[in-house]
Amino acid sequence: MCQLGLIGFPIKHSLSPWIHEQFLQKANLNGSYTLFEIEPDDAFSDVIDDIKGRNLDGFNVTVPYKQTIIPYLDEIDPEAEKIGAVNTVLNDNGRWIGYNTDGKGYLRSLESKFPNLLAEKTRKILILGAGGAARGIYYALTAADFEQVDIANRTINSANEIAKLKGESTNTTVLSLAEVENKISEYDIFIQTSSVGMNPNHEDAIVSLEGIKESSIVSDIVYQPIDTAILREARSLNASVHFGHTMLLYQAQYAFEIWTGQRVPIGSMDEELQLILEGR
Ligand code: ATR
Repeated sequence: MCQLGLIGFPIKHSLSPWIHEQFLQKANLNGSYTLFEIEPDDAFSDVIDDIKGRNLDGFNVTVPYKQTIIPYLDEIDPEAEKIGAVNTVLNDNGRWIGYNTDGKGYLRSLESKFPNLLAEKTRKILILGAGGAARGIYYALTAADFEQVDIANRTINSANEIAKLKGESTNTTVLSLAEVENKISEYDIFIQTSSVGMNPNHEDAIVSLEGIKESSIVSDIVYQPIDTAILREARSLNASVHFGHTMLLYQAQYAFEIWTGQRVPIGSMDEELQLILEGR
């Protein structure tokens, strides 16, 4: 039995049980993926003790507990420590170890759609937004040695904080949202990580893509709705688009690999998840 789960709030509509139940089947493992919703008023430490007592093989952590969980772990993987957030916990014979698969999963999702991407380190990248997701993605891009990864955000300080994660091979300029629009033609990959565009603000976009190169890739990590305003604009300007639900699939694939040692193929789950989201 492979017992897995998720902590977070609110998580009643989480897609992770669907994803991991498919992975369990594909890996020929008996198991379960249980939701442990922790309300803001609940005693966090009691719930974590309860989960540890159930002897789960591992669990995922989502908003708002990706930082809260850290003091309850026996060990933290160095990358998760640098990112400052944990989304995957492994029970390694009673030692609870924290990992972060968000940024790596994002990169794997991009690579699955654009296979030569990781070999092309000179492609100029812009990350829009500077929240938790941007932090993980920036870390993964700089760890993959992309040469230019800029960050634009409404609040400049948050972008400066993320830029401190910079590796030796990467240059980073922090930009205001207005500056992005003047420089848009320079970027090969544009990654939208802000919460703008997410339901119920689905008509919004913080910047205009006017002037973006046709050869560029525009990626939005928002997946509700799946086809955001910025992706529609990208298509109207003949750029390639990358949908947000794929990050969800590949961060889960990494987590499942940490728990079971098996890298299950995503196969048609990309299209199936897209249909589920379109039906919501
Ligand atoms: P997550 O952890 O999921 O990435 P978050 O930490 O809430 O989400 O980050 C949300 C991002 O969306 C931030 O970059 C935020 O900008 P600020 O740092 O300036 O707050 C950005 N964001 C949200 N609403 C915005 C808006 N109306 N205009 C511009 N940026 C916005």
